[in-house]
Amino acid sequence: MIDNFGRKINYLRFSITDRCDLRCKYCMPIKNQKFYKKDNILTTLEIKKILSLFIETGIKKIRITGGEPLIRKDILEIITFLKNKKKKKLIEEILITTNGTQLKKYAKNISDLGVDRINVSLDTLIPEKFQFITNGGNLRQVLDGLVEAKKLKIKIKINTVLLKNFNEDEIKSMVTWCKKHSFKQSFIEVMPVGEVNTSRTNQFLPVSYAKALIKKNFGLENLSLSTNGPSKYYKTSLGNVIGFISPLTNNFCSSCNRIRVTSNGMLYPCLGDNGSVDLKSSLHKSDSEIIEIIKNSIYHKPEKHFFDIKEKSYVQDRFMNTTGG
Ligand code: GTP
Ligand code: 5AD
Ligand code: SF4
Repeated sequence: MIDNFGRKINYLRFSITDRCDLRCKYCMPIKNQKFYKKDNILTTLEIKKILSLFIETGIKKIRITGGEPLIRKDILEIITFLKNKKKKKLIEEILITTNGTQLKKYAKNISDLGVDRINVSLDTLIPEKFQFITNGGNLRQVLDGLVEAKKLKIKIKINTVLLKNFNEDEIKSMVTWCKKHSFKQSFIEVMPVGEVNTSRTNQFLPVSYAKALIKKNFGLENLSLSTNGPSKYYKTSLGNVIGFISPLTNNFCSSCNRIRVTSNGMLYPCLGDNGSVDLKSSLHKSDSEIIEIIKNSIYHKPEKHFFDIKEKSYVQDRFMNTTGG
């Protein structure tokens, strides 16, 4: 599928639940968080149907996200379904983005089902700070999950959202920790998706800050590595791979290859745009009619986002837990 701007769209990010067992302060507000009504959430069958239709239209890489995808009871059924598609060479990659709290329980299944890579969100290595930023989370639980996943040789990337006055003092220690464990790493700029309890400017730390600090302390060399994601990857003199995701300071939309589906069956062609189409309510139509709806939405994918960190929130209708980043 090629969009209006000549971009090849072959990567679907499917948020299978907007629920999460954590409440990261930059992701969801503590109060007034609205979740989709249970009746509006896609069933397992509907998820499989939508996945099949996207695969038919040319999607080759599928990332399961949330909220927290591993808290959905049918997670293994969904991954098994994808494994069979991959076995038939209909897709190339199965990926998961998780907060890691359930990783200890699921690492073996994730490994057995041939998930290619997982991304684990981790913004601090200090238990009290972890509890603060996630509104009550237990760092030990995530670290135990990571140990289990590492034992099983699952490929892991650690995602760290850069937050002013919160984790700039841990950038160096997180780099050495990731090196010690052979984890890849991404530093991410916070995006104004949903209005949280503080101004986004108070949270924002540009990736240039982390990059300069890492370069000074460890050296940084350009890498040609690409996962077709937004990260620009580098290698330090220690040998670890670090990506920087800079939606605010260095827009990467011109090479964007992805679209998103939320757990209530809305297709969002762009993370930073309010435009969407309702696939759930179209599921009674014929496959070719639904595929037409998908193709049309993808064709009209916006050229880029217009995030502005000075705005409380750029998108009006949702938080990051609904689109899964
Ligand atoms: P791979 O490159 O496939 O490993 O994954 P990724 O780094 O894109 O995925 P992940 O789910 O770990 O996302 C990391 C961060 O990148 C999240 O904060 C996402 O919101 C952000 N991100 C991913 N895709 C886009 C995009 O298209 N636009 C913007 N603005 N941010 C994105
Ligand atoms: N800006 C940037 N990244 C965010 N994430 C959640 N909310 C935001 C935001 N407002 C991150 C999570 C996770 C990834 C999927 O998205 O920390 O690593
Ligand atoms: Fe949950 Fe991820 Fe949002 Fe944190 S960032 S509250 S782990 S969905």
